[in-house]
This record gives sequence, C-alpha cells and structure tokens, in this order.
Amino acid sequence: MTNLTDIADLTGKISVADAKAGLDLSIFGEKLSGQSGILDLMNDIGEAVALRPDLLALGGGNPAAIPEIQALWRKSAADFLADAASFDKALVCYDAPQGDPAFLDAFARLFAERFGLPITSKNVAVVSGAQLGAFCLLNLLAGRTRDGRRRKILIPASPEYVGYADMGVEPDLFVACPAKITFPNPDNPQIFKYVVDFDAVERAVAENDVAAILVSRPTNPSGNVLRRNELERLDALAERIGAWLIVDSAYGGPFPGIVEDERELDSVFWGRRTILTFSLSKIGLPGLRTGFVVAPEEIVERLAAITAIVGLANGSLGQRIAKPFFETGEILRASREIVRPFYQRRRAAAVELLGDELRRVGVDGRLHASEGAFFLWLWAPELKSGSKTLYRNLKERGVLAIPGDEFFYGLDGAATDGGDGGVKVGATGKVGQSDGGKAERDPIFEAHRRQMLRISFSAAENVVERGFRIIAETLAETVAADARNAR
Ligand SMILES: Cc1ncc(COP(=O)(O)O)c(C=O)c1O
Repeated sequence: MTNLTDIADLTGKISVADAKAGLDLSIFGEKLSGQSGILDLMNDIGEAVALRPDLLALGGGNPAAIPEIQALWRKSAADFLADAASFDKALVCYDAPQGDPAFLDAFARLFAERFGLPITSKNVAVVSGAQLGAFCLLNLLAGRTRDGRRRKILIPASPEYVGYADMGVEPDLFVACPAKITFPNPDNPQIFKYVVDFDAVERAVAENDVAAILVSRPTNPSGNVLRRNELERLDALAERIGAWLIVDSAYGGPFPGIVEDERELDSVFWGRRTILTFSLSKIGLPGLRTGFVVAPEEIVERLAAITAIVGLANGSLGQRIAKPFFETGEILRASREIVRPFYQRRRAAAVELLGDELRRVGVDGRLHASEGAFFLWLWAPELKSGSKTLYRNLKERGVLAIPGDEFFYGLDGAATDGGDGGVKVGATGKVGQSDGGKAERDPIFEAHRRQMLRISFSAAENVVERGFRIIAETLAETVAADARNAR
C-alpha cells in the first residue's frame, strides 16, 4: 500500500492536514489542486477585478484595453452576430477537437504565405488558451515513459513564466538553468539582460532525459527576447538530443506584436524541431480563451485527441470572431500598426517613470532590458527580506505586483557553473552537484532570485503612475527596515 511519504514524494505537495481532513484525493488531484503560484496570481487578478476595484492592479497578465483594437473586435463580433445562420451554427454545434477547419485553414495559409512556414491546417491545433495548450504539450512529451524513463522539460534561461511551474501531472517535470546576467549597455549599469548560458544547458542535457526545451519569447516575467541565434542553437540542440523546442509566443510576433524590435514582425522563427504556441489573449481577447499550437502533424493529432477527452472541443467564438482577421491578414496589420506602437509608448513611459521614482526615493533598482511583453522586471539588490515581504507590504498599501521568487522553479538539481564560467565538480564527482546532491550556486544569482518584482504597465496610465510611486516608496521603506534588522 502506498503510504503518505510515498505520495508526498510523488506529488511534492500533499500535507498530512489534507489527508486528515478526509479528502482522499488521487495523486493527480493532490498535485493539481494544491497551492500554486499561478493560482495565487489568478486569484489576485480576480479579487482586483471583481471585489477590490480600489487595488492598483499591476500584477496580472491582463492586456490593455486598446480602444482601436477593442473597436475592431466589437465590429467583428457585430458582423458575426448579424449573420444569423453562422451565429446559430457556432452556438449550437461543437467544433472538431482540433478546431474549425475553415479557421485552421486561414491560420495555416497566413503563416505559409506571409512567413514561408511549411505548414497546412494539419499543423495547427486550436486550444482553449495557450495555457491549456502548454499543459497538454508538456505532459504529452515529458514525464514517465513506458520504458521507465523520466523525461524532463528544460527551461534554458530561468526565470521563466510562473504559469508553467505547476503544470506537470508528475512531480519534478522541470529542470532549469539559471540565465546569465549581462549588462549590455556600458553607459547604463542599471539595465541588465538575461542570456542563455549554453555551458549550463549542455550540462543539464547531459544529466537529464530532456523531452522539450521551453521558452516564452518575449519572456514573461523579464521582457527578454531571446536572440535568433539563441533560438537556432536551442533548436539544433533539440534536434541533437531528440527533443523539441517549444516557443511560447503569447506576446510576440507576428501577433500580438508586443515587441520593441519591429523586425520581430517580419518573420517567424521555425526550426527543424520547433513547436510554436500563440494566443489571442494579449491582443485583447483573454475572455475568449483561444490559443493555437503549430507543430508537426503527429503532435497536432495528439493534442486534438487530448482536447476530445478533457473538453470535447474548444469554444468556437474566438475562432469565429478572429477568422476574418486571419483570412485578410488584418491581424498582422493591427499588431504592427496599433498594438506594437501602443505598448512601445507605454514601455518608454514606464521605464522612465519607474527610474525617476526610484531615484526620488534613493533606492538601487535595476531593470531588465524591456524588449517585449508588458512587464518591468525590477531587481532591487538592497532588498534583503525577499520579494514576498515586498509583495505583502505593497498589497497592504493597495498595490498588486508579483513577487519574483515563483518564476525561478526547476533550479534544484540543475547544473550551474558557479557564475565564474568554471564547471563545479562536487565531492560526488558529478558535474554541477555539491556534496548534498544540490547544485552549487552562483551567490549573486541566488540573491538575485529573491530580489525581483514583476510590475505590469498595461493598466490605465493613472493607475500605473500612482502604483509606481507607491512601489518606489514601499521598496524604500522595506529596504530601510531590512537595514535596521541587519544591525
Ligand atoms: C508566457 C505566457 N504564455 C501563455 C499564457 C496564457 O495565455 P492564454 O490566455 O492564451 O491561456 C500567458 C498568460 O499570461 C503567458 O504570459
């Protein structure tokens, strides 16, 4: 009989309190219904939207309501509503689990004709949000296999999107490599940028059976946009080890286009082992829960099979409302001419404002180069009590932001180079492992991961302005309290 310790080992989560409460849950149930970073985050968003409109919500991933974009969606929805036959059909019929064939065709044609991707509708799956798409993909590829292997998802440049962290139906799905922190601008040491540490990645693939390499690009939380050569190297590595490279483009090109570099909208990265995921959420439609996976046919067929089991089909409204935009290419125009410039303006204003506020209160704050998505990723090196303390202090003052710790998952057990580029060999003789079997850590990165705050700039400008002021002041007070406590 399985005892509690075995189950705790499998789920990493079960508490004796749960067991005593009589909730005799499955391992799957324990794993997926316990506390998670993404649950806290989504509850915070829900609370801010529904119950506490007074909170300054700079935490969650809601996109801005860009008036021109919302008008386009309203017009498309009105046209759809006016077409009684299509509207009734969409509401009264389930789609096929892979998606509406006409939509899949429009999507594939656009990507093939405009960007030269060698795909047809058989390479596209609609999913009920990119989040669910990632859940299905990660668990499809990684985990225990029939022949007893434990295949992993490799995060090549941690920190990475908190929404993946608890997706594994099985425990320890992730192995992550700390990103290398660089300072790209010699004139501005306050701006840093993560790059992939390929030495660490090579060690991780040598020590783990990696099923897929996973990146969000632009990266949530940092706003990093991995360079094309980094993607090419990761794709080549995936091919070499018989894995996949999953590129989550929820914020990127060619839509919604929340990227600084306009060239990101001109071409779509597609390597020999690449799987792409997309979403309609950040272009103003998170409520419609519509995402897409572009992948080899056999993977798309498997995803459709999962959809049939877990949800029968996807919601049809997102596909119907967006279809004309894919048929005409309007989705690309709207991304380039409306969405990208909107967030560019917001980004520039946010970077300047936060810099000014931090200088005003006299706190050392560094920002990740803001290359995409709509977050500032703040590094406060003087913050000793950790980002969760800062998060709590901010919430007390009516500001929601996201503590950075949760984005650094999967690191235990990953090989690191100790920050000096040299491989550490512990007494166990295993590369990257110290005596206790834990990877040795770069102390700067270890401190760094507890000093981070993710701040959204997608909210209304007056909310951002008030919120940034409170963030700077609260950070200054928290840092001062830390200094007093250290004495
Ligand atoms: C990187 C990333 N991927 C995926 C998602 C989920 O997108 P969707 O709303 O399509 O499920 C998000 C949402 O914030 C995200 O930030």
